[in-house]
Amino acid sequence: MIYSRIAGTGSYLPPRVVTNDELAGKLDTSDAWIRERTGIRQRHIAEASQASSDLALEASRRALDAGGVRAADIDLIIVATSTPDYIFPSTACLLQAKLGVKGCAAFDVQAVCSGFVYGLATADNFIRAGTHKCALVVGAEVFSRILDWNDRATAVLFGDGAGAVVLSAGERPGLHASVLHADGSQVGILSVPGNVCGGKVVGSPFLQMQGKEVFKLAVKVLDESAREVVAAAGMKLEDIDWLIPHQANIRILEATAKRMSLPRERLVVTVDHHANTSAASVPLALDEYVRAGKIRAGHRVMMQGVGGGFTWGASLATM
Ligand code: ACO
Repeated sequence: MIYSRIAGTGSYLPPRVVTNDELAGKLDTSDAWIRERTGIRQRHIAEASQASSDLALEASRRALDAGGVRAADIDLIIVATSTPDYIFPSTACLLQAKLGVKGCAAFDVQAVCSGFVYGLATADNFIRAGTHKCALVVGAEVFSRILDWNDRATAVLFGDGAGAVVLSAGERPGLHASVLHADGSQVGILSVPGNVCGGKVVGSPFLQMQGKEVFKLAVKVLDESAREVVAAAGMKLEDIDWLIPHQANIRILEATAKRMSLPRERLVVTVDHHANTSAASVPLALDEYVRAGKIRAGHRVMMQGVGGGFTWGASLATM
């Protein structure tokens, strides 16, 4: 039996930190409002010269180093992003070129904030099928580019960053199970409803969100997918050492942990200093806790995505 396992993690945050107070200098908002409603106190914002593939490159180099793997050993690159460098080619192809390799399969996954979990499940299936042996799965976003910085309801929620994992074939799991879902009838509650046509943006190039609807649906599907993935792995919720839900809002994270009866100290929280980095949030949080020595070999980690589409999913792994 072939399984996949996480051999290395890496992440990258652009150096520029924007605090709530800095935003409150430009928008009708306050540090107190943002902290109380979301748990966010700061976010990192990319320089104008940095695209998703640049963030992805830094995170990938660190994951490759951590896994003791050369870029040339990678036979599959999957990048999850909703803020690609170009319409085409994919950010995965741009990343491959920046890593200085060629030949391996490379493509993007577009599942918004669930993108990393979608990418991980996809790479796991390639490895289990025996066709690929070493995958690089990356979540990389520059959401700052698709925010209306005059809209206080959305501008305060997001940040930029990238996280990556190297997934290697092995004889022991590794990834135990993944579940993926979508409900396209909810397309209107979270979207960037624009496209480019004839050299012009048609529709809106900015993120639009019905916050309350997103909140309710996120708490519901995070709870459902947690139960579904532990059942698929033949485990129980009590077997989980760490829960890494998509880092959208501290109230969503705490409500999810409470529904699962998971002690607060097993809940991974980075939304306070990263804000919501969409597809990058789960691998960024994973890498931070691995490098801090909190998540260690042998720990069971549940990773969960939820976001626009509406999409959601979960993966359960032993590190
Ligand atoms: N600063 C100050 N006031 C604000 C701000 C702000 N940044 N944003 C909104 N308000 C005001 C509103 O205008 C409203 O004012 P009013 O009562 O005078 O009309 C008031 O605050 C309440 O607004 P609500 O939208 O009802 O506030 P709510 O308590 O729902 O919190 C929030 C909003 C934080 C967006 C919440 O709905 C939420 O977290 N939803 C989940 C959305 C989310 O996490 N999205 C991330 C992307 S989706 C994903 O990743 C899964």
